[in-house]
Amino acid sequence: MTGDDARNGVEEPRTDGGAAGADEVALDPWGSSTVSDYRKLFEEFGIEEFDELLEAVPEPHYLMRRGVIFGHRDYRPVAEAMAEGEPAAVLSGFMPTGDPHIGHKLVFDEIIWHQQQGAEAYGLIADLEAHAARGLSWEEIDEHTRNYLLSLLALGFDPEEGELYRQSTNRDVQDLAFELGIEANFSELGSIYGFDGETDVSHMQSVVTQMADILYPQLEEPKPTVIPVGPDQDPHVRLARDLASRMRMFGVTTAYASFEATEAELEHVAAAYEAREAYAEEPDQPRCGEAAEWLASQDGDDPALESAIDKLENAGMEPLRPRTRFLNRRADEDAFEGLIEAVEGEKRVFEEHVDAFDLEREAAEKLAREVELAHDGYAFLPPSSIYHRFMTGLTGGKMSSSIPASHISLLDDPEAGYEKVKSATTGGRETAEAQRELGGKADECPVYELYAYLLAGDDDAFAKRVYDECVGGDRLCGDCKEQAAGLMKEFLEDHQEKREEVTDLLEDAEIELESPRRG
Ligand code: TRP
Ligand code: SF4
Repeated sequence: MTGDDARNGVEEPRTDGGAAGADEVALDPWGSSTVSDYRKLFEEFGIEEFDELLEAVPEPHYLMRRGVIFGHRDYRPVAEAMAEGEPAAVLSGFMPTGDPHIGHKLVFDEIIWHQQQGAEAYGLIADLEAHAARGLSWEEIDEHTRNYLLSLLALGFDPEEGELYRQSTNRDVQDLAFELGIEANFSELGSIYGFDGETDVSHMQSVVTQMADILYPQLEEPKPTVIPVGPDQDPHVRLARDLASRMRMFGVTTAYASFEATEAELEHVAAAYEAREAYAEEPDQPRCGEAAEWLASQDGDDPALESAIDKLENAGMEPLRPRTRFLNRRADEDAFEGLIEAVEGEKRVFEEHVDAFDLEREAAEKLAREVELAHDGYAFLPPSSIYHRFMTGLTGGKMSSSIPASHISLLDDPEAGYEKVKSATTGGRETAEAQRELGGKADECPVYELYAYLLAGDDDAFAKRVYDECVGGDRLCGDCKEQAAGLMKEFLEDHQEKREEVTDLLEDAEIELESPRRG
């Protein structure tokens, strides 16, 4: 089991949403990452549940409807932009370390679906990463690159509307990676990825390259961008979101007085402001000192409360008054001046920030972005992500490239694909009688997964019928596998025929198929 498998959807899945009691959660892009309890991802890492967002998505993909795409970070802006016909982008990347298989197909489909919903689409080949982190030669990389791209095109990626590239030849990505590298240091990468003194410099460089990949769709103009990946890639997504904001010239926050406060402190200050009638001598001009006294009289002992009180006390007679604050993070004098001029209404200018009294937060964010763009800034929006479940291996356990019987390559001979499905483990009972009586365990069956993730395609009624018949005892594994194997064979035949048909499309696409690099 390799990180490559994990990312691309071949890992231990639990179609029941995570087995209770499972305790292993590891998010490691290059390790043998296992995610045996998806629920922990919500609690420990702050990944949000996709279901809660489903209704915001116009015509959701079947992988979304069936809960295969189970989590996301900040996907709403992408869904909304697509619904409103505004600019949005989708990007994902593939390390060309082997043949593309049915796990990669999930990601191909996700990119293509977003493209069909109107998003700008990007598919990239992470050849620098494969070379540095996996030690593949350029010759091997070229061969696999071709195979990934042919499958992506065969499944419906439109190369004229979208963009295909490889990391090694994308100068813009490499330049952006260099800039981003200035905002990340070794200790940080070390703590996120477990890098140490033995880690290759090029491996580290492949991380900043991936950060640049993720932000690349926003180089021309900032736009909501989704990165569909397996949950093992979440550390990359978090870092990219962080770097996106570190690259901003301006930060926008809310404040109540001249001092800076953390989000947690702000909550207390805001509460004190709301309660001003209760304590202020002049309620239209509550003083910081008065607010401090009032807060001190309230129950509560969190450290943010203490520090909020301190700050308010220090501000003394200063009036408490809500305002939108622009912080100067990376702007030069020109850009800062530009911002000051652009703020309308009452404003107060400080050394490193500007307070605006007549600007709502949202309008302020927009303004900050405009000024930033006018002064050659990036104004990146934090990238969003969606996460899909890993598929179970056909032999039970994990799906792994190193165990051919456990997965189905998109290049497998259709007959071999048929046989693999026929020999797959199932969630069936010992005997036909038991199956009729108790029903099968579709939730634990890799064959059922094949139907749900792939074979049933867009036909929800079909997927549901298989499920209901299985758990109801009306479906026996022999026939069920026969049907699945037949569908798999058809799928592979059809897919491979389409691969043939798109070879010209690939030749015409911008992407370079042969690397001039050596080693
Ligand atoms: N690191 C990814 C992998 O292991 C590949 C990758 C490179 C990628 N750049 C990306 C994935 C950008 C998503 C977005 O396969
Ligand atoms: Fe799996 Fe089909 Fe058997 Fe049910 S009937 S356990 S879905 S193989």
